[in-house]
Amino acid sequence: MERTFIAIKPDGVQRGLISEIVSRFERKGYKLVAIKLIVPSKEFAQKHYHDLKERPFFDGLCDFLSSGPVLAMVWEGEGVIKYGRKLIGATDPQKSEPGTIRGDLAVVVGRNIIHGSDGPETAEDEIALWFEPKELVSYTNNAEKWIYGVN
Ligand code: GTP
Ligand code: MG
Repeated sequence: MERTFIAIKPDGVQRGLISEIVSRFERKGYKLVAIKLIVPSKEFAQKHYHDLKERPFFDGLCDFLSSGPVLAMVWEGEGVIKYGRKLIGATDPQKSEPGTIRGDLAVVVGRNIIHGSDGPETAEDEIALWFEPKELVSYTNNAEKWIYGVN
């Protein structure tokens, strides 16, 4: 089953939005397979955002990501990479639709509270960067037969 890496950034954690955000993924019907609270180093943040290293905001972005606890998660479900990004909303909260996480809960692009992998390769790389394989929990979620139907 498809998996994506989702992180609540330091602003989302400090603003007390963990339960609100986790609940949106949970209620949708996705399965949580890994979760931990960590303060990434700046070097780690630079690895995570390596694709953006030429951008003028890169240094500030990495300082910000490493400025406090981040809630790192792996969520699993059919189409979770693409639809997870829909739940999150556009990068700039000024352009995110109401009803999305950033649209409802954030105001500026530099403090947009959540990260989600942008494609299958990124998801695989980011899961491997943030988690050891043994931290990914394999279990049956009994609600799945109601979420996907049987057969
Ligand atoms: P992530 O899920 O965090 O990767 O966001 P994204 O995929 O929607 O956007 P992208 O990967 O292009 O940018 C990564 C992060 O850099 C964004 O979430 C923003 O926090 C930040 N960012 C992007 N564009 C800007 C910008 O123009 N100015 C500032 N200050 N930050 C930006
Ligand atoms: Mg991105």
